[in-house]
Amino acid sequence: MCINNIKKKDRIRELIQNNNNLFKCPICSGTMIMNDFGSLTCNLKHNFDLSKKGYLNLLVSGKAPVYSKKLFEARHRVCKTGFYAPLLNKLAQILDEYKKSRDNKKIKILDTGCGEGSHIYSISQRAKENQGNIYVGVDISKDSISIAARNNAHIIWCVADLTRLPFQNKSFDVALNILSPANYGEFDRILNDSGIVIKVVPGSSYLKELREIIYIDKDIPDYSNSKVIDYFKQKLDIKDIQNINYKFDVSEELLPYFIKMTPLTWGKSIEKLNNVYKKNISSITVDLTLIIGIKKR
Ligand SMILES: C[S@@+](CC[C@H](N)C(=O)[O-])C[C@H]1O[C@@H](n2cnc3c(N)ncnc32)[C@H](O)[C@@H]1O
Repeated sequence: MCINNIKKKDRIRELIQNNNNLFKCPICSGTMIMNDFGSLTCNLKHNFDLSKKGYLNLLVSGKAPVYSKKLFEARHRVCKTGFYAPLLNKLAQILDEYKKSRDNKKIKILDTGCGEGSHIYSISQRAKENQGNIYVGVDISKDSISIAARNNAHIIWCVADLTRLPFQNKSFDVALNILSPANYGEFDRILNDSGIVIKVVPGSSYLKELREIIYIDKDIPDYSNSKVIDYFKQKLDIKDIQNINYKFDVSEELLPYFIKMTPLTWGKSIEKLNNVYKKNISSITVDLTLIIGIKKR
């Protein structure tokens, strides 16, 4: 292990030790403690070692992740271009306002289905009031979390199932859920009484330039996020709902990463994907709906 990895592992171990009380054992639900050797252990001695790369693998369900490492590497590259910057600025602003409404007490933020981690990393860097906040990212894919753990940020990364989160009741203030499946029962359990869920879902024009090419000889299937929003409304009281809509200029060099970052292109023929390149797409539409929910009273 190189010296930088040792330092990083020590830093993350200390961060987890300072926040032992967040965790519950994914096997027996007992409380957990991170020891000085980098093992998170419960009273019944179920043991989870901090990996060399600096993340915890707390997945015990054996569920197989759906997305490939290539997809996450492509998403990582696309995120670095600033493709999601307006969304991330908005999220950082919402978190700052939320923190102010809580007398600037430090807040604990869990990104559920965080993928390769760029969003929560970027938010942790942007939020003006981020001093002292605790950031945790979970995803069911070990490939995605090992990419996320490459950065040097003070973020706790865990491989875990968001339908069975390895965290204590009422241990977080904010559950972020960006373009990922949700489990509102679990979000309700891990959030404290004044906690919020921030969900981001695609709108009907999201990545429309890519879809127009992929479905070149067919009608583009209509997409509406109304069912997702209706379901959110059943589970939470909506505090705010906003649309984020813009076009992002994309160069020929970056186009392959945009194509690889989305499951839209799965199972499509090479010929159809080649059409994407020939069409010379110069910009891609980002159309997202951001919903903030609070616990039902
Ligand atoms: C479309 S990706 C979005 C990732 C990231 N939030 C983003 O916007 O780039 C959906 C993510 O949800 C994760 N996911 C799906 N089911 C999950 C589960 N049960 N528990 C945790 N993560 C899950 C996938 O592995 C994937 O990283």
